Amino acid sequence: MESEILEFGMDDKELESHPTIYRPDFLVGKVAVISGGGSGIGRAAAWLFARLGARVVICGRKLEKLKSVAASLKKVGLEAQPIVCNIRDDESIEAMFSKVENLFGGCDILVNSAGGQYPQPAIDFTIKGWNAVIETNLTGTWLMMQTAARYWRKSSRPGSIVNIVTVVERGQPGIAHSCAARAGVIALSKTVAIEWAPDKIRVNCIGPGPIDTEGQRVYTEETRNRSARSNPMMRFGDSFDIAEAIIFLAAESGKFITGENLIIDGGSQLWGEFWVGEKPEYFK
Ligand code: ADE
Repeated sequence: MESEILEFGMDDKELESHPTIYRPDFLVGKVAVISGGGSGIGRAAAWLFARLGARVVICGRKLEKLKSVAASLKKVGLEAQPIVCNIRDDESIEAMFSKVENLFGGCDILVNSAGGQYPQPAIDFTIKGWNAVIETNLTGTWLMMQTAARYWRKSSRPGSIVNIVTVVERGQPGIAHSCAARAGVIALSKTVAIEWAPDKIRVNCIGPGPIDTEGQRVYTEETRNRSARSNPMMRFGDSFDIAEAIIFLAAESGKFITGENLIIDGGSQLWGEFWVGEKPEYFK
């Protein structure tokens, strides 16, 4: 079977062969759980963790998506263990971590890349839509963090969490709910970076700017064109830009880094306009 060719994001061939700064055995002996590992940044991270020798668990709601990533890895002699997990359900999270403990004796790294949002002017949000985004992007991420930390504390095992958020400093018109949730994750991460330091648990965030992934599919062409010019580099970043940074923070390379929020956005904090969805006439 040919590797999947994607209109957006990196295909399997690119994920397999993209040069990396890390030596091939950099993550040997590590177990990493990656939520949202079936697509986008999570999928790229799964590839790179596996390429560097980690044992990888990819979790998400859709088994088919996870299985497809695992099958692609298998074709080139790499492995990832798919486990279905709904991060909005604490029992599902508990079952997933329990399975990881049975299969691998626990994990060392948790990457929270699962999440989702839809563009809409904030004034039109329904309470149902608001709650859905907050429950997934804030509460779901939190439950994953807390469950991992409880396992680590119980077994006196050090741990490292990397939460994939977004650039929140200037807000993000068009996805206010998600921006609020991600800001919450950043604040939580800074707080528990302190509370959990005695347990040797580090907690960091990465704030990606516009990244070319399958996730771009939900946006209009106008939005995508605008995003591509929303930073001084005048382009999208790719999911490997984020995957390599995840590993830097998660592994020994990041051993004195905690409570950090690393922005990887081509400089969009300094220059450029970000607007997801329809831009009102007033700002044109
Ligand atoms: N990705 C988006 N929503 C999710 C959820 N509720 N659980 C796991 N992965 C997700």
